[in-house]
Amino acid sequence: MTTLRIAVIGADGIGPEVVEAGVRVLTALTERAPGLDLAFDRFPWGSDYYRAHGKMMPEDGLATLAPYHAILFGAVGDPSLPDDLTLWGLRLKICQGFDQFANVRPTRVLPGVIPPLRDCGPDDLDWVIVRENSEGEYAGHGGRAHRGHPEEVATETAIFTRAGVTRIMRYAFRIAASRPRKLLTIVTKSNAQRFGMVLWDEIGAEVAREFPDVTWDKMLVDAMTIRMVLKPQSLDTIVATNLHADILSDLAAALAGSIGIAPTANIDPTRRFPSMFEPIHGSAFDIAGKGIANPIATFWSAAMMLDHLGHPEASHRLMAAVERVTAAGPLTPDLGGTATTEEVTEAVCAAIRAGN
Ligand code: NAI
Ligand code: MG
Repeated sequence: MTTLRIAVIGADGIGPEVVEAGVRVLTALTERAPGLDLAFDRFPWGSDYYRAHGKMMPEDGLATLAPYHAILFGAVGDPSLPDDLTLWGLRLKICQGFDQFANVRPTRVLPGVIPPLRDCGPDDLDWVIVRENSEGEYAGHGGRAHRGHPEEVATETAIFTRAGVTRIMRYAFRIAASRPRKLLTIVTKSNAQRFGMVLWDEIGAEVAREFPDVTWDKMLVDAMTIRMVLKPQSLDTIVATNLHADILSDLAAALAGSIGIAPTANIDPTRRFPSMFEPIHGSAFDIAGKGIANPIATFWSAAMMLDHLGHPEASHRLMAAVERVTAAGPLTPDLGGTATTEEVTEAVCAAIRAGN
């Protein structure tokens, strides 16, 4: 049996709280799942590390992570440091360094969770958002001149490459093809942005010809927000740029009940590098240290990790335990409950032990 080596980076705020909860449920799972063996190594990187060493992770951090099978990540962000420094210094460094170009964000209404939309049941909202994760608006391309002077200027250039757009479109069409409805919506803004977004549309239509079984349509991002709220049933798989999907997936998380549930996977589909699994929420300093962060987003992310590592049954078992707990409680305050992170984690561990 191969031991799967998992690098654990809790980082900032509630990150370490939810990631340790994740390690606990994964450990409970290995006790129930013969054939699943996980070994965890923790890395104390993040804003505290920055204060001590002047960087978010060591110079050779990527080389240290490269041999791992996967990375379980918490969140970065510290009120006393600039957000761009913490994000680019750790999370984006890993995403870009390991070419994790596909960011996958499943969203659905878990049993027992009351979504904010009236008449939106579990069957009405079941999406997978695929976010381009390597270029676009977050390519890091730009600069500043005349700093501090009245003529100061800053540019932020979105980068769309044929290779980058083609690979994310193929990935999204493949996911759409693997789901029962075989339905893909390509989000764009090609009415106003005439270059990058037009290339995006053209390549989307080209790649669509490789997937005749998939029904697809195109939606302007502003209109997409309306459709997500008013006709959630009309959507299934969604592909969008780095910025658009960043925003739409927070909306999706809210529509599904709470940001504290929403998971994500940063995938290198070529498997040259480890992929990284994390809740989509940030470091939530307003609740850090209070022991009330919802760990379910991390549990769901851990389930995605098991799927990616070739353990779909263990993944399914973990999600079944999570759904038993969302249905019956206990729930953290973001879901209307009064439970602590600890109580929810223990309940999920108990559901794993009780499951077959
Ligand atoms: P946030 O996701 O940290 O918090 C937004 C709201 O949701 C807060 O009220 C928070 O208490 C609540 N919330 C988040 N996660 C929760 C959970 N698991 N359980 C219960 N409630 C939860 O987003 P915000 O406030 O915009 O950003 C805070 C910091 O996190 C910033 O420094 C930001 O840059 C960073 N950030 C980092 C991300 C990452 O590492 N992937 C993603 C998003 C933000
Ligand atoms: Mg975001």
